[in-house]
Amino acid sequence: MSGSRVRLRAEVENSVPYRQGKPAAADAFKLSSNENPYEPLPAVVEAIADSPLNRYPDGAATKLRERLAERWGVTVGEVQVGAGSVSVLSQLISAAAGPGDEIVYAWRSFEAYPGLVAVAGATSVQVPNTADHRHDLTALAAAITDRTRLAIVCSPNNPTGTAVTKTEFAQFMAAVPTSVLVVLDEAYAEFVTDAEAVDGTELVHQYPNLVVLRTFSKAYGLAGLRVGYAIGPEYVMDAARVTAIPLSVIDQAQRAAIVSLDNEPELLDRVARLSALRDEVWRALQAQGWDAPRPHGNFIWLPTGALTDWAAETLTAHGIVSRSLGEGLRVSIGEQASVEKLLRAAQEVVSELRTRASTATLD
Ligand SMILES: Cc1ncc(COP(=O)(O)O)c(C=O)c1O
Repeated sequence: MSGSRVRLRAEVENSVPYRQGKPAAADAFKLSSNENPYEPLPAVVEAIADSPLNRYPDGAATKLRERLAERWGVTVGEVQVGAGSVSVLSQLISAAAGPGDEIVYAWRSFEAYPGLVAVAGATSVQVPNTADHRHDLTALAAAITDRTRLAIVCSPNNPTGTAVTKTEFAQFMAAVPTSVLVVLDEAYAEFVTDAEAVDGTELVHQYPNLVVLRTFSKAYGLAGLRVGYAIGPEYVMDAARVTAIPLSVIDQAQRAAIVSLDNEPELLDRVARLSALRDEVWRALQAQGWDAPRPHGNFIWLPTGALTDWAAETLTAHGIVSRSLGEGLRVSIGEQASVEKLLRAAQEVVSELRTRASTATLD
């Protein structure tokens, strides 16, 4: 098509759509999207089977919000449900920030943050992680100015897997003005086994400017149904309800989330197995010579530096689809059967990294 173009928003035209983890060939393992490898529970499949497809869902997700409110010890008004926690985050960003406003977050972190901020017309202020791939919360607090409307803390951090400690988070909250909304993105919270790590369930009602973000996509294995939620002050949740796209949390998602809460012990048992496998893989990688940060989610960060593209290809050749993110690879903890292939590929990559490092030292 030729001729004149309609006028679009510059910040949208200058942004790229969210990049999803690559799909896998039939004989490969897809470890590129931090998905849960377990099949849905039979009770979940049964619960969604007779969802009335000719009817709109309950746009307020009342039953699910009631259930979550009970579980978190908050009112129904203090719960907001969205089509994935990324939706709720987008609602919060639109509610808090627009052109001229800043949103601070650590980088590298979740790939969706820059796009969500840009779409709201706000400005991203990215604060580099420390050399050991952790959030630098002192620098994050220092980056807050009069223009800051929102700060995102991601723990465990996607993609580096590091967790913010309870103490670090308390110090951060003490340094942030209460007029700035803080979103604690805990998409992977259920995989955390370190008692020192921040835990949103303990913080609700402790801070007037805190919203905790959780999802059913990861630990509960419902990524395909799109359902996540936030817990926070009612007026902030009300604002998110205003910026939300109406009726986007489908009935199947609401039903599946409730049934998942009914069957939580079984799901958390799966999570415990994945966390144990994660630790096992991390120890094996350390033994191979990797300097990978201790993982707290359902994935591991491999710092591959300048060799990242080659490393991703090497993993693919071994039947492992990873997520290539600039200076490193993120690999999800998936099926047990993927581990042997992953470790074989990782051995090949780390050997090359070490050879290059020693050659560089000699140069
Ligand atoms: C840190 C983080 N937050 C939020 C999400 C969004 O999850 P969902 O929209 O599926 O709830 C993800 C997904 O990968 C994530 O890694």
